[in-house]
Amino acid sequence: MPVITCVEDLRLLAKKRVPKAFYDYADSGSYTESTYKANTSDLAAIKLRQRVAINVEHRSTRTTMIGQEVSMPVAIAPTGLTGMQWANGEMLGAIAAEKFGVPFTLSTMSICSIEDVASVTTKPFWFQLYVMRDRGFVKEMIQRAKDAKCSALVLTLDLQILGQRHKDLKNGMSVPPKLTLANILDLATKPAWALRALSGRKTFGNLVGHVKGGDGILTLSQWTASQFDPTLSWDDVAWIKKEWGGKLILKGILDVEDARLAVAAGADAIVVSNHGGRQLDGAMSSIQALPAIVDAVGHQTEVWFDGGIRTGQDILKATALGAKGSMVGRAFLYGLGAMGEAGVTKMLEILQKELDVSMALTGTKDIREVNTSNIIRT
Ligand code: FNR
Repeated sequence: MPVITCVEDLRLLAKKRVPKAFYDYADSGSYTESTYKANTSDLAAIKLRQRVAINVEHRSTRTTMIGQEVSMPVAIAPTGLTGMQWANGEMLGAIAAEKFGVPFTLSTMSICSIEDVASVTTKPFWFQLYVMRDRGFVKEMIQRAKDAKCSALVLTLDLQILGQRHKDLKNGMSVPPKLTLANILDLATKPAWALRALSGRKTFGNLVGHVKGGDGILTLSQWTASQFDPTLSWDDVAWIKKEWGGKLILKGILDVEDARLAVAAGADAIVVSNHGGRQLDGAMSSIQALPAIVDAVGHQTEVWFDGGIRTGQDILKATALGAKGSMVGRAFLYGLGAMGEAGVTKMLEILQKELDVSMALTGTKDIREVNTSNIIRT
């Protein structure tokens, strides 16, 4: 077992342990991957401001996100097919997040269902909603999230149409599906994954019973692609807000004008996000988009951030630029794929330790005091 000291170590371990098609599904962006790469490189380019001789003995990363106490300003982002990185991955991720004191967001496209996750958690988690053409089904999912006592609905707005990821097609994650010889041979080298998969959930848990022609993963992905609603508009957002009636987070905002519309729609928080570089290739990196959005609407709603976070230093940078919270997608999937629940815990521990140490080295004791003075504007 290698010594794990950073999220990159978890990524390398996940790459060894997760079947290639599912690892690549997580570790890829759309088209040329320029936005995917910019998310991390633009974060890396920001410089933190080192300060010395300030008493930083007692420090805290605790804060709140939409009024909920969090042990650090981080939430697990919704990710589809998570249960394919590690059997029952959504349940394990939710358990780890709850123990650590950060929110867990369950994707519409999860393998474990809303009810599965509710059955293993004691505190409320968040549910992420995609808007499908079948509004009856959307309504039903909202009701299921209410029944499961989810404490926020994360409505994703940047996937009316799917951005193409070349690796998924090459690996046979296509429609119609291809079980290639390469996939079969690859699986033979990951017996532990295969063994766990036998006893884990194997379908899109939230969609079971809504799919014509069977509930297998690939039939379902085909069905889903045809179900996302390209007509999604702000009127639908208003309808969903009314149906839901609780805290609403609008995810996938990259433009100041859209941020203003999201505030007008009554968002309790918005997530500045380009879907981890998986949708519009050529769009701004999330960290590049963040400051203008914070300037425009930061006084009216909570502005959160995701895209490219791999270290606690990245969280500090996003916080300094005005993000009240950060979501982590791939860092979560790498931890999960590497070591299951223990890997998710490890990932959270690594991020918190790095955040804490970096706060200290910038002369900051309390995460709630972090602001633009903690970075060097170049
Ligand atoms: C995602 N993302 C995503 N977002 C969402 O709202 N619903 C979803 O089902 C998914 N599915 C999904 C799968 C995978 C494999 C990835 C990597 C991402 C986007 C996700 O919530 C988040 O915006 C990004 O992952 C953030 O970027 P990082 O942290 O992965 O760099």
